[in-house]
Amino acid sequence: MSPERSSKIRGEFCIESRAEPGGVVIFGASGDLTSRKLMPALFNLYRRNLLPRNFYVLGCGRSRLTDEAFAFHVRDEFGRIAEFHSDPRLDDFLRQCYYSTGDYDDPAFYDHLRERLGELDGRHATGGNHLFYCSTPPSVYAAIADRLSGAGLAAEGEGGRPWRRVVIEKPFGRDLQSAAALDAELHKVLRERQIYRIDHYLGKETVQNILMFRFANAIFEPIWNRRYVDHVQIMVAESLGVDHRAGYYEKAGALRDMFQNHMLQMLSLVAMEPPTSFDADHVRDEKVKLLRALRPFDPGRANETLVRGQYGPGAMGGKEVPGYLEEPGVDPQSTTETYLAMRLMVDNWRWQGVPFYLRSGKRLCRRVSQIAIAFKPVPHSMFSPIAPEEFEPNLLLLNVQPDEGVSLRIQSKHPGPKLCMSALTMDFTYREAFEEEPPEAYERLLLDCMLGDQTLFVRHDDVIVSWALMTPVLEALADPARQIPLCSYDPGSWGPKEADELLGRDGRVWFNP
Ligand SMILES: NC(=O)c1ccc[n+]([C@@H]2O[C@H](COP(=O)([O-])OP(=O)(O)OC[C@H]3O[C@@H](n4cnc5c(N)ncnc54)[C@H](OP(=O)(O)O)[C@@H]3O)[C@@H](O)[C@H]2O)c1
Repeated sequence: MSPERSSKIRGEFCIESRAEPGGVVIFGASGDLTSRKLMPALFNLYRRNLLPRNFYVLGCGRSRLTDEAFAFHVRDEFGRIAEFHSDPRLDDFLRQCYYSTGDYDDPAFYDHLRERLGELDGRHATGGNHLFYCSTPPSVYAAIADRLSGAGLAAEGEGGRPWRRVVIEKPFGRDLQSAAALDAELHKVLRERQIYRIDHYLGKETVQNILMFRFANAIFEPIWNRRYVDHVQIMVAESLGVDHRAGYYEKAGALRDMFQNHMLQMLSLVAMEPPTSFDADHVRDEKVKLLRALRPFDPGRANETLVRGQYGPGAMGGKEVPGYLEEPGVDPQSTTETYLAMRLMVDNWRWQGVPFYLRSGKRLCRRVSQIAIAFKPVPHSMFSPIAPEEFEPNLLLLNVQPDEGVSLRIQSKHPGPKLCMSALTMDFTYREAFEEEPPEAYERLLLDCMLGDQTLFVRHDDVIVSWALMTPVLEALADPARQIPLCSYDPGSWGPKEADELLGRDGRVWFNP
């Protein structure tokens, strides 16, 4: 069992578990994700004493690096983070980092890996527990799992000891067929309990707080339904353009990049029924049940339920910026959407008739991710001559990034004449309440992998159901006969005007921060 620390101070209840001994093997260790997210997250866990003493990292890849060169590379990347550079524990941490060069297709590499892991397990007394992190392009996930199994590195011991876990990064397939094919390959050699599919949005504090907010407070759940909620908006806006990732984005677009994963994950947490416990499968059962209740997309009504867009050239922050079609690496005829807005309906008792509006785009006004629960207006006004529709309805905002927190908009008496009323906002921000920055999503997720807790990881049926919902949308967008317009929008705006019309037709407006 992992050591658990708990505290109970003035209403605070906190359980912190330290990871079990083990080795973390990162495939694709020379890449962007490893440098920017994985190694900083591991070092932060180390600094917070959440990694055990018996621990090591083995980076792997085709790049030829020695142990020393890899440690040097990590130290160099950490140079950006002031508090890391001056931390006296950095040298000790880097002494536990190693590297092996190899080709993922070559069985000889895995024979070498088995020997190396055996030696490192002995040196660090890890008990042979291994976390294999695939931080490579998805095209090699299945080959890595297959070769690990061939080398005897994927099988767990009796009772799951030593444990062997494999982490894979999104995208989990490009559509329903490829997602099912990837799952079939992985399940040939791994049990579902060994597979950790990361959607890093689930590691964000505010996203996890949706569960606490809904199910650790008695006051919200009674009004969390069609009687009181008018509609829900979920937005992930990015101010950056496609940047240096045109190669990836051209093949993905907003639907694959955001909707199939992050947006549907947030939607399922906001709308699901209460799970019976915080057990991984109880939570994931409810999420999948909710996704199954989403009304299937009707391609014949695409123009009533979705808007796609692409940013044109313009100016942002006083600087000229290119349009998507002028970005390096983008096909000048590309029809890839950089913006998507959709109206989804949930066909169950709780949400019948309540629209869920989702939107996500690049080169928008601000980088912000937010969930807005818009409540119905008051049924009657006792403050004559103010009509009920003149009151601003209550609005609950769950701010996912960058200012993590919760805001509630309410009507209040304004100081002044007898009938002076205005909307005010009650704000809670993590930074002010806890006087610290919320931890990076990858810290929580890596720790959970090492603890064997799959609650915040996407289960195979979740991936399949979400692709089953989104694949017909992809097909409609790709079908010229459907004539779904690709609407242009200005950089720095909140998206195409057609997206405003999508809500306008329902008598609603987007909440732009
Ligand atoms: N970067 C992010 O912020 C981010 C966010 C979410 C998800 N992801 C996902 O996380 C994974 C890693 O992302 P990344 O940005 O670090 O990717 P990356 O930099 O493009 O690639 C990671 C490493 O994989 C190896 N690699 C590249 N192409 C390969 C190929 N065809 N076959 C085998 N190895 C290859 C390279 O290392 P060697 O040449 O040394 O082998 C490279 O350094 C991807 O699946 C990505 O979709 C990334």
